[in-house]
Amino acid sequence: MPVMTADATTTMTNLLKAYEGEVNAHTRYVAFAIGAGGDGFHGVASLFRAAARAEQIHATNHARVIKELGGQIKCEIQGVEVKTTLENLRTALAGETYEVETMYPAFLKEAKTHRITAAIRTFNGALEAEKTHARLFGEAIALVEAGKSDTWIAAARTFYVCPVCGYTSDSPVEHDSCPVCKCAWKRFEAIQ
Ligand code: FE2
Ligand code: FE2
Ligand code: FE2
Repeated sequence: MPVMTADATTTMTNLLKAYEGEVNAHTRYVAFAIGAGGDGFHGVASLFRAAARAEQIHATNHARVIKELGGQIKCEIQGVEVKTTLENLRTALAGETYEVETMYPAFLKEAKTHRITAAIRTFNGALEAEKTHARLFGEAIALVEAGKSDTWIAAARTFYVCPVCGYTSDSPVEHDSCPVCKCAWKRFEAIQ
């Protein structure tokens, strides 16, 4: 069993916070997907399902590192308030933006200070994947706001999720391999 040094305690706290955030994001997006389907935004429902899968991958990755560093998994599940699809998309974008601009950069900085490689890797994978979510949620918001129901937001569609880091794409082949973790693109999961 690895011994946690004093240097790793803040990173452990951060890993647990990130884990809880990812588990709750997963739960939230599953509920938002059902809401989007009910509102007739089946493409947005697909996007929420793909993002939910990515958050599940992040939670699993963080959990593995928590265990490797000798920590114990714990997590409080928050209730989910499902509003209109537009409001849910804005909630989702706000969450992703917080993770991209504030939370993961701070957690990465701390892990880098103490050279905790496994934590650096899992935080970085999540950070880069959240950028793809922020972009796709932003695109969906613009289309819903403009009332563009003849675009991808309306009909169920496929998104592609890296099984290793959760990088999410709307394209069946964007690169040969994941730009974040180098996982072969053909291993990406197709989520509808
Ligand atoms: Fe995530
Ligand atoms: Fe995300
Ligand atoms: Fe990846």
